[in-house]
Amino acid sequence: MPLTTKHLLGLEGVTREDIQLILDTATTFREVLERPIKKVPTLKGKTVVNLFFENSTRTRISFELAQKRLSADTVNFSASQSSTKKGETLKDTVRNIEAMKVDMIVVRHESAGVPNFLTQISKANIINAGDGAHEHPTQGLLDMYSIREKYGKLEGLKVCIVGDITHSRVALSNIYGLKTMGAKVSVCGPASMIPWDIEKLGVKVFSRIDDAIAENDVLNVLRIQLERKAGASIPSIREYHNFFGITRERLEKHSKKPLILHPGPINRGVELSSEVADGPYQVILDQVTNGVAVRMAVLYLLGTMN
Ligand code: CP
Repeated sequence: MPLTTKHLLGLEGVTREDIQLILDTATTFREVLERPIKKVPTLKGKTVVNLFFENSTRTRISFELAQKRLSADTVNFSASQSSTKKGETLKDTVRNIEAMKVDMIVVRHESAGVPNFLTQISKANIINAGDGAHEHPTQGLLDMYSIREKYGKLEGLKVCIVGDITHSRVALSNIYGLKTMGAKVSVCGPASMIPWDIEKLGVKVFSRIDDAIAENDVLNVLRIQLERKAGASIPSIREYHNFFGITRERLEKHSKKPLILHPGPINRGVELSSEVADGPYQVILDQVTNGVAVRMAVLYLLGTMN
C-alpha cells in the first residue's frame, strides 16, 4: 500500500494509516540496521539532495546514512559554502539543483514554510527536516516509533511535551502525530513558553512538572532554544532548571517513572540533569538509532511511489 502523500511537509493532516505504514516499514529497516551489512538496494539509481540552511548534527547525518543504506546517490548542500552567499535566491538555487535531475530533496531551513514553497517550484519529493518553529515531521515519527517500541502501542498512552513549546517544531509534530495515533497529549512549561491557545489543539496544560511526572507515561523533554530567543521568556536558566528541569530526585519521588525522550541536542543541567540524560529511564540514543530506520522508511515509501 503506498503513502497517500507525495511529500512529507509535516504531520498535520497526515492520516493514521500513513503514519502506521511509516512506523511499520521502519520496523523492517530497524532490523536491517542490526545486520553486519546494513545496506539494501531499494533506492539504487535515485538521487537525493540534503539541503541544509541551518545547523544540524542528528538529522543531517541520519538522513545521509538512511540514503546510503538504501543505496541512493546522495549530495549534501551546505548554505555556508554555496552560491546563496553570493546573493542567489532560494528559488534559483533549488531550480539549478533540480536541473541536475534529482528525485528527492530533504530541506532544513530557519523559515517556516520553505518545504511547502519547494513543492511549488520543484517536481522532486520534498521532505521537511525542520522549518523554523513550524514542524519537524521525521523527529515526530521517530519519537512515536521509540515510544511504541517501549510500550508496544501509542493508543491511550499519556505523553507530555515539556519545555519551550512556543519555539518548538518538535512539539507541533509530536502533538499532531500522537493525537492522530490516539495518544493523550499534554504540555508542561512556564506560561511564557506555552502558546495561549494551545488547548485548541486538544492538549492539556500542566503548570507543575511534578504533576506532569506523576500523570504521564512519557515525557518528551525539549531543548531550551536560546538561539530562538527563548531566554527572553524566562528569568534565568537556573530558575528554569529549578522549576522544570528533570532530575533524579524529582523522578524518584514518584513510584511510576515515565519514559524520558529528548530530541537533542541536550542542554545538560538545564532541561535534564546529566544523571537523567544518561540514566535508566531515558531512550535518547535509541531515538537516534530509530531515526535512521524511520528516515529510511520515509525515503523508501516516497521514493518508490512514482
Ligand atoms: N533533533 C534534531 O533535529 O537535532 P539536529 O538539530 O542535530 O538535527
